[in-house]
Amino acid sequence: MAYNLLKGKRGIIFGALDENSIAWKTAERVFEEGGSFVLTNAPVAMRMGKINELAEKTNAQVIPADATSLEDLEKLIDQAQEILGGKLDFVLHSIGMSVNVRKKRHYTDLNYSYSEKGWDVSALSFHKVMQTLYKKDAMNEWGSVVALTYMAAQRVFPDYNDMADNKAYLESIARSFGYFFGKDKNVRVNTISQSPTPTTAGQGVKGFDGFIAYADKMSPLGNATAMDCANYTVTLFSDLTKRVTLQNLYNDGGFSNTGVSQEVMEYFVEK
Ligand SMILES: NC(=O)c1ccc[n+]([C@@H]2O[C@H](COP(=O)([O-])OP(=O)(O)OC[C@H]3O[C@@H](n4cnc5c(N)ncnc54)[C@H](O)[C@@H]3O)[C@@H](O)[C@H]2O)c1
Repeated sequence: MAYNLLKGKRGIIFGALDENSIAWKTAERVFEEGGSFVLTNAPVAMRMGKINELAEKTNAQVIPADATSLEDLEKLIDQAQEILGGKLDFVLHSIGMSVNVRKKRHYTDLNYSYSEKGWDVSALSFHKVMQTLYKKDAMNEWGSVVALTYMAAQRVFPDYNDMADNKAYLESIARSFGYFFGKDKNVRVNTISQSPTPTTAGQGVKGFDGFIAYADKMSPLGNATAMDCANYTVTLFSDLTKRVTLQNLYNDGGFSNTGVSQEVMEYFVEK
């Protein structure tokens, strides 16, 4: 069901790789709600993914950009405003990658050049995106910036590896940059802390199937899907949430505040 919540709004959506991507579902929902946008992803993802399929469906243009490159980000933000015909109202940062996870390096045996790369892609890129938007004065007043995160920033999930640290850093950037974006330009900045979701990035985490099943049993409402996340993001891009900022917002079916669930307890009760 569409409510025209984003009619006339313009933005940039980072990170749609394939139809499982949270950013893919978000682009579809934003389009349904009347928003127009440019899609972007790393140049390498253009070859692997199917972003052009999504672009066709959503009347969007695709501009490749490595989110760690200031030069790419500057071009992207200039071109997006030209294509869309004005300043931006929303930006989704849906980017994550750990080289240590990919190369199966244990958290007690990190390769620090891998760590730096993963941190740059997963966390610092959020600062780079916002600093470029800010310096170019590319956001409209009451615009909204959202990045996606995971609860391993607050609690231990051993196999999440150095992504836990990257997410903690990302959430801190949302608050620190959000302060200045709010004060100076009336732009809001939030992170959504999403349930484990079967996507390319999600499935890279060791033991993902057990992990997602456990989270589902622990959450009173069950795991939030990629579509649930897309819907939540739509509300944050809309004018209905104008003074929500500097927040880390859980979209997790209640997992983060549940100590134990009946289902999980039953598993340990002697029969
Ligand atoms: N899947 C989950 O379980 C889960 C849970 C909570 C949060 N998240 C977060 O959601 C976000 C989206 O991930 P997803 O699960 O949809 O997986 P995904 O693999 O579909 O998306 C990750 C995206 O990051 C892009 N990317 C990687 N390096 C980049 C670079 N240098 N420049 C630009 N883009 C780059 C990839 O191309 C890809 O499109 C990530 O921040 C992820 O950490 C995912």
